[in-house]
Amino acid sequence: MFASVMENEADVFYRELPKVELHAHLNGSVSSQTIEKLIVRKPHLNIEHSMTAIGKGQRRTLDECFQVFKVIHQLVDTEEDILMVATDVIKEFAADGVKYLELRSTPREEKNTGLSKKGYVETIIKAIQQCKNEGEDIDVRFLVAIDRRNGTEVAMETVKLAEEFMLSSGGLVVGLDLSGDPTVGHGKDLLPALQRAKNCGLKLSLHLSELEESDLLLNLPPDRIGHGTFLHPEVGGSQSLVDKVVKNNIPLELCLTSNVKGQTVPSYSKHHFEYWYQLGHPSVICTDDKGVFCTDLSKEYQLAASTFGLSREAVWKLSQQAIDCIFAPDTVKQQLRQKWVDLQPQQQTCNDNVETSV
Ligand code: IMP
Ligand code: ZN
Repeated sequence: MFASVMENEADVFYRELPKVELHAHLNGSVSSQTIEKLIVRKPHLNIEHSMTAIGKGQRRTLDECFQVFKVIHQLVDTEEDILMVATDVIKEFAADGVKYLELRSTPREEKNTGLSKKGYVETIIKAIQQCKNEGEDIDVRFLVAIDRRNGTEVAMETVKLAEEFMLSSGGLVVGLDLSGDPTVGHGKDLLPALQRAKNCGLKLSLHLSELEESDLLLNLPPDRIGHGTFLHPEVGGSQSLVDKVVKNNIPLELCLTSNVKGQTVPSYSKHHFEYWYQLGHPSVICTDDKGVFCTDLSKEYQLAASTFGLSREAVWKLSQQAIDCIFAPDTVKQQLRQKWVDLQPQQQTCNDNVETSV
């Protein structure tokens, strides 16, 4: 009884903690409730729930994770689907206490349904605007994603599309993401597209995978790094990679459950969050794919706190410092900083409990 009261109190703290989410793939963030609605729309696909999510205690190879995205893509193939998925995802993040969200997604063309890449991005922008008009307490921006599997030419087309929307979306499209199966293709082939994106003012967030490629891509340099699982020496990276990241002060987007379930790190306690946090390097807790990995941002903060013994004050500071790493302009940062001040409980600084259980 006492334990459950304690647990609930902690749950409320993490839910109410204002949060910034910087690494969320749209189709990986679809909740089970929304998947249910999509399955009802498309019964002929014979897709079951177990095919779209990786539950508690389960692990998958990276390859299996990418199969899951293929299944979800089958379910989300019209503008109507994208509108529903994007509005649901935004509202779920808002309900979880996220005040600023950068969603990312790979524009897809679906010949069967007439979906175009332009229509894809327009629909996500429409969803963002709808949520705003409905008064959701969350500022949402969009990063256009390059799936590395699609090669050089598509990467360049995607940058041009992102550029167009950066100029026409009233500041909603702020950057570019490089993601997809890290075992496919090589970063050097994508450099011209990424360089162009940077030159035209798009911010860059790159999933960094293996050694040689990371070294090359770090020279751009990107504005943020997704995961960075192979950067530090203990995991096959190198001191020179770490030095580059530190010298350029490139924030890391760290997704604990995604890395554990996708087996790119062996366990929560061995997650590289600790390495970077100890260095005092800007590290932002994120979800990656909250639907696929059955998590939310509150849980990820709670897991980081219980695994690495962070006090509530430290957790608050961690969420506040994430504001420095957003891609929206300084005016937005100022508004968010004020929001954090307004929401901070009076007794916050005295309440220095170390989280010991989740
Ligand atoms: P979408 O871009 O909204 O369709 O979201 C799903 C896509 O995000 C996948 O097909 C991958 O390209 C990318 N993605 C999601 N999670 C990861 C990850 O952990 N590593 C690399 N790519 C990812
Ligand atoms: Zn990711």
